[in-house]
Amino acid sequence: MVFPSIVLFALLAVSSAAPPQRQKAVHERKTLPPSFSRVGAANASQSLTMRLGLKSKDTTGLIDALMRVSDPASPSYGQHLSQAEVNAFLVPSAETTTAVNAWLVENGISSNKASSAGDWIEFTIPVKQANDLFAADFSVFKHAADGSEVVRTLQYSLPVDLQDSIILLFPGVSFGSISMPPKVEQELGKVPVAKRQSVPSACATSITPACVQALYGIPATPATQSTNRLAVSACNLTSGFINQWASSSDLSVAYRPDAKKGKFTVQSVDDGINVDLIFGLFAGIEADLDIEYTVGVATNVSTIFITVGNNNTDGLAGFLDLVIDLLEQTDPIPQVLTTSYGSNEAGISSALANQLCMAYAALGARGTSILFASGDGGVSGSQSQSCTTFQPTFPAGCPFITMVGATSGVPETAASFSSGGFSNVFARPSYQNAAVSTYLAALGSTNAGLFNRTGRAFPDVAAIGNNVQIISSSLTQSVAGTSCSSPIFARRVSTSPPSTTLCSYRYEYSVISLINDRRIAAGKKSLGFLNPFLYTNPGVFTDITTGSNPGFPASAGWDPVTGLGTPKFGALLAAAMALP
Ligand SMILES: *[C@@H]1O[C@H](CO)[C@@H](O)[C@H](O)[C@H]1NC(C)=O
Ligand SMILES: *[C@@H]1O[C@H](CO)[C@@H](O)[C@H](O)[C@H]1NC(C)=O
Ligand SMILES: *[C@@H]1O[C@H](CO)[C@@H](O)[C@H](O)[C@H]1NC(C)=O
Ligand SMILES: *[C@@H]1O[C@H](CO)[C@@H](O)[C@H](O)[C@H]1NC(C)=O
Ligand SMILES: *[C@@H]1O[C@H](CO)[C@@H](O)[C@H](O)[C@H]1NC(C)=O
Repeated sequence: MVFPSIVLFALLAVSSAAPPQRQKAVHERKTLPPSFSRVGAANASQSLTMRLGLKSKDTTGLIDALMRVSDPASPSYGQHLSQAEVNAFLVPSAETTTAVNAWLVENGISSNKASSAGDWIEFTIPVKQANDLFAADFSVFKHAADGSEVVRTLQYSLPVDLQDSIILLFPGVSFGSISMPPKVEQELGKVPVAKRQSVPSACATSITPACVQALYGIPATPATQSTNRLAVSACNLTSGFINQWASSSDLSVAYRPDAKKGKFTVQSVDDGINVDLIFGLFAGIEADLDIEYTVGVATNVSTIFITVGNNNTDGLAGFLDLVIDLLEQTDPIPQVLTTSYGSNEAGISSALANQLCMAYAALGARGTSILFASGDGGVSGSQSQSCTTFQPTFPAGCPFITMVGATSGVPETAASFSSGGFSNVFARPSYQNAAVSTYLAALGSTNAGLFNRTGRAFPDVAAIGNNVQIISSSLTQSVAGTSCSSPIFARRVSTSPPSTTLCSYRYEYSVISLINDRRIAAGKKSLGFLNPFLYTNPGVFTDITTGSNPGFPASAGWDPVTGLGTPKFGALLAAAMALP
């Protein structure tokens, strides 16, 4: 984002000892999201670790390459790129790197490379210096809901000659409002009771692993391919999240038999909850194994649990570092990544949204299917809040990932909390043009002006996300949320979760990981970025046509509550096996 107004910084800061001042212009500015308030100036001597996102050599080339390997109609379908091939697109030009480094050195700052392609660099400087360098006003802002504080600025400037080389300062003007835990019993009492014949009758009131298998026709056959791997990211955002986990009287049911079999590994990003602690929880405690564990072991898919720490309390660093860490891994990388947390698009600068989306494109080009829960706030963002226009979630707008909404009940109807809508940052990608235009035409002028008709529409697909049964505090409880749905769609490793916040650990009855397993067994590549394939095969989904979120109704065909619908395993498998 380049704004026209020039800050006459050089005239204000003349000092014989100071480094040469370059003419600067405002690079990004943002109005404070309503959920935050300014507390006061940041402590001038406090250190800030910041990053600069540098302009990559060829992002257009990267996206072309991604679409070539992901579009079933392309002759290069499935021929995913290597790390070196992806980095060749992401790397900044030598001129860019040299120019930016020269400016930093001129100001006495030494920086480190912060991504394998070198498109991110990092340095730590005191607030005072940051205010001078970026003509910024770094301040403490407080989040109304949870009282957490972040240091941000509402605008910053860059030297005029570096405006094109530097895409953004991170975290700069972006405000995260990350949310992820599914809500306990959010929609109890609203479950339709009609039953599908093949689905156990108890599924009408509570969803168990057997229900998910029956609903989507997922076979019990275990996966067999050792190279088939999936990654689940979780964040230790709030102390509550981890405290609940670690202090739960429920540790006995958190025991994971497959951890011992080398099927379960842990990676930590940004000092996320440490590996020993997790293995302590999982491996150290003998358990009263219930029948579901058997299913868990049988699924036999190697799972990488990525715990993401929380550098600056609003979770944005975690978003960035998760994808940077995965891109740093040499091949092969996990074929599926599922994440059950998100933020509000409005709090994040469009430069950051674009830069993160490019990183997801890079991961997709290397062959990873990226799935995110769409959020639990309907049309008011990642969680319920008051708003005058519909709030899309982040990273839902990024067209290179697969967003998963939620359904409720058997037969399934749209869950009223399922986030969906239209991005204000990313335009509608061509793969969903027909599906979304059809929906908008039928919607007519309903809620006109409250959402952006030209934006990337989400979610793409859905899975059951309400009344999902988990065990917590030795009690069986029901939870609801799209956090339950994304793992169902993405993966299949069933065990009990450590706590209510982690329904993902039991309901991973999925679909994409199992299908990858079959493709790999047949000598084919994993599915990678899914959307071009999914949108050309709407018949592999059960279309959800009833229910609504507060802004949009579900309808025949794609809709912004349940996307294309919920998976029919057999049909999805057949379509996937027919691909090159
Ligand atoms: C400001 O930060 C410095 C360095 O971290 C610290 O020593 C000092 O106590 C802080 N001042 C206040 C008022 O918090
Ligand atoms: C589980 O997967 C491994 C490869 O990771 C395979 O060797 C083994 O046969 C599988 N187990 C079953 C029961 O299919
Ligand atoms: C994440 O949680 C672990 C365990 O409570 C803690 O040691 C670590 O400091 C946390 N990381 C961050 C960055 O908050
Ligand atoms: C977050 O903190 C870790 C160290 O705990 C650091 O390596 C990483 O660069 C930080 N990330 C960001 C985006 O500041
Ligand atoms: C609507 O979305 C487009 C992207 O499709 C974006 O360029 C435009 O700024 C958005 N409009 C508003 C009012 O946010």
